[in-house]
Amino acid sequence: MKKSWIIPTALVGVLALMQSCKSDPNSPGFEYMPDMYRSPALEAYSGYGFYADSMATRKPVENTIPRGFMPYPYPNTTEGYEAAGADLKNPIPYNKDVVAEGKMIYSKFCIQCHGKDGQGDGTVASNPRWPGPPPAYNGRLKDLPEGQIFHSITYGKGLMGSHSAQISQEDRWKLVYYVQTLQGKDLEALHSGAPQENVQPETEETAEEAATM
Ligand code: HEC
Repeated sequence: MKKSWIIPTALVGVLALMQSCKSDPNSPGFEYMPDMYRSPALEAYSGYGFYADSMATRKPVENTIPRGFMPYPYPNTTEGYEAAGADLKNPIPYNKDVVAEGKMIYSKFCIQCHGKDGQGDGTVASNPRWPGPPPAYNGRLKDLPEGQIFHSITYGKGLMGSHSAQISQEDRWKLVYYVQTLQGKDLEALHSGAPQENVQPETEETAEEAATM
């Protein structure tokens, strides 16, 4: 009974402690461990006096390439197209699964123009307002080499836009396999021999050269 004043007094004390000492409503109050509030790291895009341009975020060093990205050395020119057709081979080892993946990607990005069987009769291309349907893969494009298929998916061709922003290089190569089946190629027979050579830049030298392009 004698100690009944302890609890109310303690409560008042705690409430008093919880009040901020400052009158500024935006003040976080007493900072018990300032390191936890104030990170020594710079905020992206905030100003920073150390560099002449006052930017905290720095630009990547020249010739930096993203992790996992393989520079593509063939320019978007007639010569580049010809060279890709002559030299470029699919770097992804052939098997049925990659063709199946290629088919799935095809059904998302290509089928609307090229049609289910690559006849150029997709719903977009069949629309009377579409200027001209794409040629059939097993017709005029029957002998289009794999490097040129890749090149055209990468840069686009005629009315077809570039797909390099939407489809990774790896997925484009999987697509190439699927397009080849639509050309009527017997991939199983073509790939039953030795594994294909990868002619994308592999040595450091050529990769460096390519990165400057
Ligand atoms: C907007 C419609 C459209 C889409 C989407 C489209 N294409 Fe095409 N594609 C065309 C047209 C039109 C041509 C004919 C271009 C020309 O020769 O002028 C063509 C041509 C091609 C060629 C032949 C290129 C050459 O070198 O002659 C290939 C291969 C091809 N497309 C593959 C694809 C693949 C794979 C996709 C999916 C990633 C795709 N296309 C998506 C319309 C499209």
